Amino acid sequence: MSNSVLSRMSSHAAESTTPALEVRDLSKTFPLGGFLSHRSVRALSNVDLTLERAEIVALVGESGSGKSTLARCIARLEKPSTGQVLLDGVDVLKRDRFQASREYRSQLQMVFQDPFGSLNPVHRVEHFLRRSLAIHGKAGSEAHTRARLEKLMTTVGLQVDMLNSYPHELSGGQRQRVAIARALAVEPQVILADEPTSMLDVSVRIGILNLMRKLRDDQGISMLYITHDLASARYLADRIAVMFAGELVEEGESLELLANPAHPYTQLLVSAVPDPARAGSYDPVRRAGLRQAVMASTSCAFDGDAEQPCSAGHPVRHRVGGVDNQHWVRCHLYRPRAGAASNALTTESQASA
Ligand SMILES: Nc1ncnc2c1ncn2[C@@H]1O[C@H](COP(=O)(O)OP(=O)(O)O)[C@@H](O)[C@H]1O
Ligand SMILES: [Mg+2]
Repeated sequence: MSNSVLSRMSSHAAESTTPALEVRDLSKTFPLGGFLSHRSVRALSNVDLTLERAEIVALVGESGSGKSTLARCIARLEKPSTGQVLLDGVDVLKRDRFQASREYRSQLQMVFQDPFGSLNPVHRVEHFLRRSLAIHGKAGSEAHTRARLEKLMTTVGLQVDMLNSYPHELSGGQRQRVAIARALAVEPQVILADEPTSMLDVSVRIGILNLMRKLRDDQGISMLYITHDLASARYLADRIAVMFAGELVEEGESLELLANPAHPYTQLLVSAVPDPARAGSYDPVRRAGLRQAVMASTSCAFDGDAEQPCSAGHPVRHRVGGVDNQHWVRCHLYRPRAGAASNALTTESQASA
C-alpha cells in the first residue's frame, strides 16, 4: 500500500475519532454589584465535557446550577474566564470573533427554552428559515431555496403551508419545531438544546424529544440536551452529566448512572423521578437547603454531610464500577468497592483546584 493511501487512511481515522465537541477545564465567574465591587459569583468550575459524533448527552441539574451558562460559553455568547472549547478539534475561543462568528455558528446552533421569545411575531415562518439560510450562505437559486424550505418543514414534522404562518398562529410545540428547523437550516454538527421542552405542554414534549432523536439518527448531529428533568434525560440521552453548583459531579452512560447513582445529589435527583418501581424519598425541604449549602461551602459544593471529608478540599474523580462503564463521580463520600486505590481518576493538581 502506498504511503499516501496510508496517510489518508490514518488522517481519516483521526478525523472520525475527534469528538464533535470538547469542553476542557472551563470556568466562568460573573462580577457582582458594579465595577468597583470585588464580589463575584462562580457560575462554572473546571468543567470537562465531551460530545462524541452523533451522541446525545444530557446535562442535568436544578435551576441556577450553571447549565445555560455552560451552553452560552460553548456558543460564544458568553466569554469563559478560563478553559477551552474545541469544536471538531479546533479551539474556538482562540479564533478572533469576526473570523469565528459565521463559521462557528454554522457548525453549532442553539435551541432555546422559549420558542415564542426567539421568534419575532411580525414575521412569517418562511422569513425565519430564509434568513437562516441566507446568513449562513446556504441560499442558492430560488428553486433550490424553496426546495430547502419545504424539506426543512417536513424534516421537523410541519406542514409545508405553515411557511405562511405567523408565530402566534402556531402551538408551542409547532413553534419549537420552527426553531429547530431554523437551527437545521445551517446544517450544524452540534445542537445545544437548552430546556427545549420545559415550556411546552406535557402532551407535546415527547414529540420534540423524538424529533431530536431522529435528527441524531438520520443526520448524525451531536446534541447537548439541557434539562432539569431526569426522566426525559433517561428517555433521550446516551450519557448523562450531572451539574451541581457549577460543577459536574457525576457522569455516565444513562442507564448505568440511573441504576447506580454514586453522588448524593444524583441520588436525590433519581429519588425524585416518579417511578412506580422505586419508593420515592424525595425531600423538597432538603432540596431547598441545597443552594444554601452551596453558598456556605468552600470546598466540595455539595457538602451535604457534616462529616469531615466534605470540607477536606475539592474531591477527585472516582471511577464507578468497571473500566468499561465510563461512569465517574466526584465525591469525598464515595467508597469504591474492592481495588479502590486505582480508581481515582484525577490528579492532585485538579484535586486542589
Ligand atoms: N449574566 C450574569 N450575571 C451574573 N450572574 C449570572 C449571569 N448569568 C448567570 N448568572 C448566575 O450563574 C449561575 C448559573 O446560572 P444559569 O447558568 O442560568 O443556571 P441554569 O441554566 O442551570 O438554571 C446563577 O447563580 C446565576 O445567577
Ligand atoms: Mg438555564
